[in-house]
Amino acid sequence: MQIKSLDEYNAVYKQSVEQPEEFWAGIADHFLWRKKWDKVLSWDFKEPNIKWFEGAKLNITENCLDRHLEENGDKPAIIWEPNDPEKDTITLSYKILHEHVCRFANVLKKNGVKKGDRICIYMPMVPELAIAVLACARIGAVHSVIFGGFSARAIADRINDAECKLVITADGAYRGNKQIQLKDVIDDALIGCPTVKKVVVLTNTRTPISMIKGRDVWWEDELKLVGSECPAEEMDAEDMLFILYTSGSTGKPKGVVHTIGGYMVYTGYTFANAFNYQPGEVFFCTADIGWITGHSYIVYGPLSQGATSLMFEGIPTYPDASRFWQIVEKHKVNILYTAPTAIRSLMSFGTEPIKGHDLSSLRVLGSVGEPINEEAWHWYDEEIGKGNSPIVDTWWQTETGGLMISPIAYVTPTKPSYATLPLPGVQPVLVDEEGREILGNGVSGNLCMKFPWPGILRTTYGDHERCRQTYFSTYPNLYFTGDGCLRDEDGYYKITGRVDDVINVSGHRIGTAEVENAINMHTGVVESAVVGYPHDVKGQGIYAFVIYPNTHGDVELTKMDILKTVTRVIGAIAKPDKILFVTGLPKTRSGKIMRRILRKIAEGETTNLGDTTTLTDPAVVDEILAALQKV
Ligand code: PRX
Repeated sequence: MQIKSLDEYNAVYKQSVEQPEEFWAGIADHFLWRKKWDKVLSWDFKEPNIKWFEGAKLNITENCLDRHLEENGDKPAIIWEPNDPEKDTITLSYKILHEHVCRFANVLKKNGVKKGDRICIYMPMVPELAIAVLACARIGAVHSVIFGGFSARAIADRINDAECKLVITADGAYRGNKQIQLKDVIDDALIGCPTVKKVVVLTNTRTPISMIKGRDVWWEDELKLVGSECPAEEMDAEDMLFILYTSGSTGKPKGVVHTIGGYMVYTGYTFANAFNYQPGEVFFCTADIGWITGHSYIVYGPLSQGATSLMFEGIPTYPDASRFWQIVEKHKVNILYTAPTAIRSLMSFGTEPIKGHDLSSLRVLGSVGEPINEEAWHWYDEEIGKGNSPIVDTWWQTETGGLMISPIAYVTPTKPSYATLPLPGVQPVLVDEEGREILGNGVSGNLCMKFPWPGILRTTYGDHERCRQTYFSTYPNLYFTGDGCLRDEDGYYKITGRVDDVINVSGHRIGTAEVENAINMHTGVVESAVVGYPHDVKGQGIYAFVIYPNTHGDVELTKMDILKTVTRVIGAIAKPDKILFVTGLPKTRSGKIMRRILRKIAEGETTNLGDTTTLTDPAVVDEILAALQKV
């Protein structure tokens, strides 16, 4: 399944376009199926209706665990590095992980979970998080992991949308020198979640928490009541594996749905190829399992390939900015997969934190989540890779399941700040505003896909029409990514950023409408408009223009009130970096906010604001500039 040379890449790519079904069947043959498929693919981007490996039966955990036991049972599956470097590392071999997953799957069954039930997981980055995810998959339950930074209200919305029956959480989480009271947040969320009948609570930080009789049970106690045998549930390839909520250009996050067979094949294939994973190597993906990167490249991709996946509880700057390099040295990490925001943040500490750390085990470096600027690319290349570890800049999305456009380490060339070439099986096209395909090289346009791949989302949970509208209606017969893209003279792709109202803050997707809704919930706010602006470390920052006629004479306190409101409604990750109180917003005669103008102002542009004649009240712009001048 691994491509070994550029010539092979070219040949395989060609085959993947000319005979996609044969190509993907060949890849899928590398996995364990209880029954093979009747049909590789049926698809239609209109509805959309996409099915891969129809008729096939499998369980993804048999691919991620059972099939490795005989030969590699003692090999480390997960190496866990704690937040506190003084604490012990935990290593789970495939055998041990398998046993833990089976046991916890039995806990879920004991608590009434059945095939198809939705389970919310809100946990710290501890091994039990991976165990919980896999335990759901073992028994055919659908997991919906929610990142630890979301607020009670955001969690409640997600739980209710998916009608989750059970929640898996912990007392608290460690993050650098902070503790997050996860169970308190869940308790607040559950006030408004009638479908949740049970909560399983892991002991982690040993902070006092409330445990409600009849609803809440301890993870540790439950384990004592079950056995370690749990046969894997036989699933259809197109059964749902998980839901993962992500932001878009409307106010409400959508539950991206991935199904078992295609997602497994796609994450395994992309993992093995892009990172050129070799048996025995240690793969360190620094993402949180609360995001798609963690799902695909901490859990499912590496484990389906029998790899060793390093999972880190903490943050890159705790106890200090050398933490990543300590971890690389300590565990002899071979492949490091991180985000440009982390690279830029570590870069700001200079090279001192790197000194004295042996990084010679590193063989491949990866980047994901946002465009990587040239400066960060070169720093990563020179200071971390010492000029001899290829950087795979992997472009993909929650909706694509796995990476799509990326160099293949040691096979295809890299190019600073370019995601470079599509993987075999991926057919990108650039289109203009009218949806006409832009052919040739040295061109820019909106990035679309013209053919399905096994990892593509199947629907948005509970609202298929929304899936159609968001991804398949902008351009007929194409999947629209929402990204702008350049294809250079050599045919290499460079992602230029979102073309919709989505901001990418530290590699996290945040919808402007969502933040506006949250700000507008604050009493006293009349209206707001949120845009992104370039931020040195985060990539993009959040800039909020807020109409708030009466700030009670204390502008700073009012700003903090607004931040608190956003933190309560969405979570701290969506807090605006800048708030400007204004008297009006630039609107067209049809009432649409002209974000183009606000974006320019947020970027620091004050003179060249383009055509403002179509505004209902062009004077608004001068008032905004005057407000800016005052602060
Ligand atoms: O804009 C692109 C950007 O992140 C978006 C997807 O966000 P999300 O679903 O949260 O998934 C992030 C992790 C896969 C994309 O639409 N993006 C992701 N990777 C890159 C990127 N932009 C440029 N280069 C990348 N390598």
